[in-house]
Amino acid sequence: MLFDEPYYISINEARWTVAEKVLNELKVKHNLALSSCLDVGCGPGWFAEKLVNWGVKVTGIDGRLELVEAARNRVANASFELVDVESKTAMSSLSKADLVFAFGLLYHTENPFRVIRNLHSLTEKVLLIESQIIPGDNPITWLVEEGKNETQGLTHHALIPSRSCLLKMLQVAGFAYVYEYLGKVDHEDFIETETKYGRRGIFLAAHEKLQGQDLVECPQITTPKYEFHKS
Ligand SMILES: C[S@@+](CC[C@H](N)C(=O)[O-])C[C@H]1O[C@@H](n2cnc3c(N)ncnc32)[C@H](O)[C@@H]1O
Repeated sequence: MLFDEPYYISINEARWTVAEKVLNELKVKHNLALSSCLDVGCGPGWFAEKLVNWGVKVTGIDGRLELVEAARNRVANASFELVDVESKTAMSSLSKADLVFAFGLLYHTENPFRVIRNLHSLTEKVLLIESQIIPGDNPITWLVEEGKNETQGLTHHALIPSRSCLLKMLQVAGFAYVYEYLGKVDHEDFIETETKYGRRGIFLAAHEKLQGQDLVECPQITTPKYEFHKS
């Protein structure tokens, strides 16, 4: 399975190091009781297993049956369901979870705003989300045709948001507090160099005010109308 190749394992390790640190901080600093977790776009369950071992009851959802079945075989102590995260109806049939965990998913969807709204409706306390983000300040999405394999979106066409677009969608969906993780993530996809933009970010969206090392609260994003006048 592609998910087992070294690229995926190394980026997973780097992302989990940060996710675990943030979750530990929420537990210790804020006494935030996180007992249930929805792992959205869970693939064959790599993060689900980490989350179970971290001490939370996990339900994983994915839109591909073969991945749901693989996850069921790999992670005994979690449950897994076949769900299209873009569907409001399918998502509204799920129970809310204290923690919604959405790594590697959003930028594989055709309707990321719908997905964010669906995730908001299922978040009891916090949403921890990792996504590719398009560089630049404008609140835009970028349409891509994806590779045709099981790690990608269900239709293989996806809209990747810019940072400000993602923040605004989280705010409009109803999260009162949105934070960006600005600490180090030990993988090249997260690191900007002289020749390359960083292409991923990690964000925490919450209903209550939180604090964490390297978590920076994002200001309200404004999205004025497009200026059609030529300057
Ligand atoms: C890049 S993989 C990420 C897997 C895992 N979360 C990780 O970060 O390693 C994207 C996953 O999202 C799933 N996915 C993509 N679009 C989806 C949709 N609309 N509904 C449910 N799952 C979807 C894919 O099947 C795939 O398992």
